[in-house]
Amino acid sequence: MNEPLYAALWANYDKLNSETDYEKWADFICALFQRHAAIPVTSVLDLACGTGSMTFALRGRGYDMTALDLSPEMLCCAREKADACGAADILWLCQDMRSFELYGTVSAVVCCLDGINHLTGAGDLDRCLALIHNYLEPGGLFVFDVNTPKKFREFYGNNDYILEDDGVLCCWQNQYDARRQICTFSLSVFEENEDGTWDRTDTVQRERCYSREKLVRSLEKAGFSVQGIYTGFEMETETETAHRWYIAARRD
Ligand SMILES: C[S@@+](CC[C@H](N)C(=O)[O-])C[C@H]1O[C@@H](n2cnc3c(N)ncnc32)[C@H](O)[C@@H]1O
Repeated sequence: MNEPLYAALWANYDKLNSETDYEKWADFICALFQRHAAIPVTSVLDLACGTGSMTFALRGRGYDMTALDLSPEMLCCAREKADACGAADILWLCQDMRSFELYGTVSAVVCCLDGINHLTGAGDLDRCLALIHNYLEPGGLFVFDVNTPKKFREFYGNNDYILEDDGVLCCWQNQYDARRQICTFSLSVFEENEDGTWDRTDTVQRERCYSREKLVRSLEKAGFSVQGIYTGFEMETETETAHRWYIAARRD
């Protein structure tokens, strides 16, 4: 579990994540719904929705949206964005994806930008998949992505990075424990004040590396059939060299 969850990041998350193209990603997700769901998709749960960027992109394509995240701060940002664009019809839930409750079923669930890698504890993935299965209509689709083992080994590894955007700087140090399959990210976020001074906030986040075999086994055990593992928005499937897998699994 990451403690405190996104404490240093929430206020600057969208800035530091500005290169992610959610519109293109949402088009890809819609294409997966068309290709792999056995029922028409009308309602979508955005699991670990963060500041809601995918929630808004999918709402814009006509889906009835529920969005869930454990971080009140991330949800607060999402709510402010919803207010600013008059998106009053999204149901925002501050819940844990390992133990959530919904009012009813949905026809698709998405979990984007390594939400599933945030399930670091023993049994967390199985608990989460059992709940998704419970709230998905039969024939409905679960679409998610994970950082691949190659990315954990080669990109995160024990490497350090710096992210920079207007008035914010994030120093990001990684430690990957290959035996435990846990990557620890130590983040220091520096924010510039109007008087030219800087505030610093530190946080530690962890992600678990899941092998392809483990993911497929867990999905099948939970009652899903894997429909496709993709590596890009053009439906590429070259999985060995990829840093991210996009997985579509249908609830049987
Ligand atoms: C990398 S962010 C991705 C956010 C969003 N899906 C996006 O595409 O920008 C991961 C999110 O997972 C959330 N998260 C981590 N553990 C969680 C849990 N157990 N239950 C619900 N949300 C969780 C964090 O609060 C954070 O907002």
